[in-house]
Amino acid sequence: MDKTRLVSVDLGTSKVVSVFGVPDEGDIKVEGYSPKIPSEGIESGVIQNIEKIANSLYTAVNEAFKLKGDIPKKKTPLLVTISGNYVESETVRGFVPVKDPDGEIQENDRIRVIMTAMQRANTGEREIIYVHPNEYTVDDQKGIKEPVGMIGTKLEVESFLLKAKRNILNTLRKVVSKTNFGVENFIYSPIASSFAVLEEEEVNQGVILLDIGMGTIDTAIWNKGSLIYAGSFIGGGKYILNDLIRGLRISSKKARELLEIYGNISPELEDAGEVEVEGIGERPSKRIKISLISEIISARVEELFEKVKWHIERIIPLNKLAAGIVLVGGVSKLKGITRIAEEIFDAPCIIGKPKNFKGLSTDIISDPSYSAALGALRVGQVIRSEYLSDLYGIKRKNASGFFNLFKKIKNFIENF
Ligand SMILES: Nc1ncnc2c1ncn2[C@@H]1O[C@H](COP(=O)(O)OP(=O)(O)OP(=O)(O)O)[C@@H](O)[C@H]1O
Ligand SMILES: [Mg+2]
Repeated sequence: MDKTRLVSVDLGTSKVVSVFGVPDEGDIKVEGYSPKIPSEGIESGVIQNIEKIANSLYTAVNEAFKLKGDIPKKKTPLLVTISGNYVESETVRGFVPVKDPDGEIQENDRIRVIMTAMQRANTGEREIIYVHPNEYTVDDQKGIKEPVGMIGTKLEVESFLLKAKRNILNTLRKVVSKTNFGVENFIYSPIASSFAVLEEEEVNQGVILLDIGMGTIDTAIWNKGSLIYAGSFIGGGKYILNDLIRGLRISSKKARELLEIYGNISPELEDAGEVEVEGIGERPSKRIKISLISEIISARVEELFEKVKWHIERIIPLNKLAAGIVLVGGVSKLKGITRIAEEIFDAPCIIGKPKNFKGLSTDIISDPSYSAALGALRVGQVIRSEYLSDLYGIKRKNASGFFNLFKKIKNFIENF
């Protein structure tokens, strides 16, 4: 396995993209990326056709390598970005006594306490795919982000875990094995996108990341430096497209063109004119007012945002998240979308741009559809390089992923 190269593949409802790069002085130097390969055989994160999605995946990874005049090796480990409402989160706590006689907290104490907390997770038919230690308590001192080196007798952690349905992950593993590549880790899309575009200050002030794709709105909420929520709501471009198809009686290809080229939900659109649209099959073409297209799109976007807002308000009051909303995903390219988001959420809203990447061409920087694939490289880097690599190192002895993590954690703790 190439230890430094990180390769990701984002399996979206509309497209599959692959990106690869290497860590470079705290940044990631992107060496290759694929164009958007039309995605077939996956719908809102759930596999519908193994062969088709395996083909899209294989093509995307090969295309990314081709850009560098390279060919991916067999068994290339992939950071596979997933989304969908089969991923659940849970906050778990655990504590351990500090081992050092002088009470100095060591790296091993941190690993033990995270593992102890993970053991308490209620997994059932789910596998843990990600663990994010949010904060530590040393004796009575709460809210510690970096406990190693501190002095105490007891170390506690509060960790945010993500768990995905095992049978869906197994199907995804099968898809990847058909391509002869391997799974390094599954990375949940809103976490990946967060790592691609969010600033540390936003994460501290409180921010909502919304990755609005074709079939899902992947959401992550960060506050005071902690990850407090990650989930996927059904929604996205598909629903806007369906409204255009039904409302204007046009083909799905034309609907996509209207959304992506003429889609504009800015208020100054009153006299924007008309667009000629050919009829379906033999039907005559017709002229459609651009303001009508805009009305249809904005009605659905408002509805989608209202739905997301309803869910978020049950997690945390929006006014506690000072940095507001950061949008990514294909639909965030819709002109005027930030204004609607600001109105509905009553919070500032911007379009996320990738941060701390080198070697990106401007078309990728300005395309928020790539944020999940890019961010997966960062998450992969964190998992490999920080103290968490010890946790995932246990996993690596097991070539097929996170399968027996719990058994291994148990052994690790018992033998410690
Ligand atoms: N310029 C644009 N304006 C508005 N919508 C756009 C634009 N470009 C792409 N879209 C829409 O974005 C959606 C695709 O976004 P994205 O590539 O993020 O989805 P995905 O990752 O494949 O899907 P998901 O994450 O939901 O599985 C499609 O519905 C597409 O019509
Ligand atoms: Mg997506």
